Amino acid sequence: MTKIPSRRPRGAALRALCALFASAGAIAPSSATAAEVEVLHYWTSGGEAKSIAELKKTLATKGVNWKDFAVAGGAGENAATALKARVISGGAPTAAQVKGPAIQEWGAEGVLANIDAVARAEKWDSLLPPAVAAVMKYKGSYVAAPVNVHRVNWLWVNPAVLKKAGAKAPATLAEFFDAADKIKAAGMVALAHGGQPWQDATVFESVALGVGGAEFYKKALVQLDPATLAGPTMVKTFDTLARIKTYIDRDAAGRDWNLATAMVINGKAGMQFMGDWAKGEFTAAGKKPGTDFLCLPAPGTAAAYTFNIDSMLMFKKSRADDQKSQLVLASAIMSPAFQEAFNLNKGSIPVRSGVPSAKFDSCALQSMKDMEASGKAASFVPSMAHNMAVGSAAQGAIMDVISRFMNSSMSSKDAAAALAKAAKTK
Ligand code: GAL
Repeated sequence: MTKIPSRRPRGAALRALCALFASAGAIAPSSATAAEVEVLHYWTSGGEAKSIAELKKTLATKGVNWKDFAVAGGAGENAATALKARVISGGAPTAAQVKGPAIQEWGAEGVLANIDAVARAEKWDSLLPPAVAAVMKYKGSYVAAPVNVHRVNWLWVNPAVLKKAGAKAPATLAEFFDAADKIKAAGMVALAHGGQPWQDATVFESVALGVGGAEFYKKALVQLDPATLAGPTMVKTFDTLARIKTYIDRDAAGRDWNLATAMVINGKAGMQFMGDWAKGEFTAAGKKPGTDFLCLPAPGTAAAYTFNIDSMLMFKKSRADDQKSQLVLASAIMSPAFQEAFNLNKGSIPVRSGVPSAKFDSCALQSMKDMEASGKAASFVPSMAHNMAVGSAAQGAIMDVISRFMNSSMSSKDAAAALAKAAKTK
């Protein structure tokens, strides 16, 4: 498995390098055999590996071989670095797990494949919510296939830990702190967390949503409005985050997200802020929602939904065989059978219409219901931490500020001011 340092080249540098290699004619032919797809992804935890195995299986039934290009590292920062290195050196994979505004950034490099042939034949425009279809297109043509909808604003809870501590399941931030105090007093870890920038940002955005609500979240973390970023509600968000920090154990630095989830699964810790890929870990461990674990909207955010849509971005291939296999991959991803099997393992819900919901558990059904309700209430918002809301340069700078705050005694006021400055990064 490839492991690459996580600093990502920013947009302008990448563009310059791509232009250089393109002008030098360095886009090499693929080394793939006849019916093969090479897919770069970062789904390496227990639940994730089971999910990606479904795609491999589906393709095998269509005679297409799977060449795995897995790059470990939650939220895909390492994978993004590996992808840039591959494209720059002229050997783009068939597809890569890329999502949100980054799809447009890659489109601007001129390295993407057009998969309209399959999208048109299968009527993707009528199967996908229009906002999702728009993200999957570059200049009006499909270049990516979506696999799911993850909800990020969840709190994962071990009810046995709550019981031992005499605490109750929290719905508000005040209740969250009450439960955390009781769990800590009972000698367990109140909050399972891994000190990695994307995990810090995951907690931060759920707290921002809980403190300020969806309108504040949109103004601050989607529109990057400087006054909102530096304003009193953001200061309050950081104050809340500072208090949350005190419930994290000393060994959290660098811990992977799935190991933090394991702490909740085995009762070492009581709660975790994480998107519903965490459910994939509970499910893979044979745990049942409602009894073995609880999926609760992050405190104070029940009426809102931070979405995170995974997709496979298709890269230009010169060989006809590769192009054909790529279309088979795109079609497989959008098939109802795959969307069902994949999402049952992944913890997410299908992104396209026409997938039966009968086999999905109570967390997934809640997600489906809340997605619809939040869409109507304009509180369905893109996840900043998971690359859905802003471009990669601004996102990287914002996440740097959040992590600095998590790892120092920086004041909330300074953090909010630094956030407003970071958001201007292009
Ligand atoms: C998210 C991604 C999920 C999940 C998670 C942990 O950004 O959308 O599919 O894999 O990171 O790596």
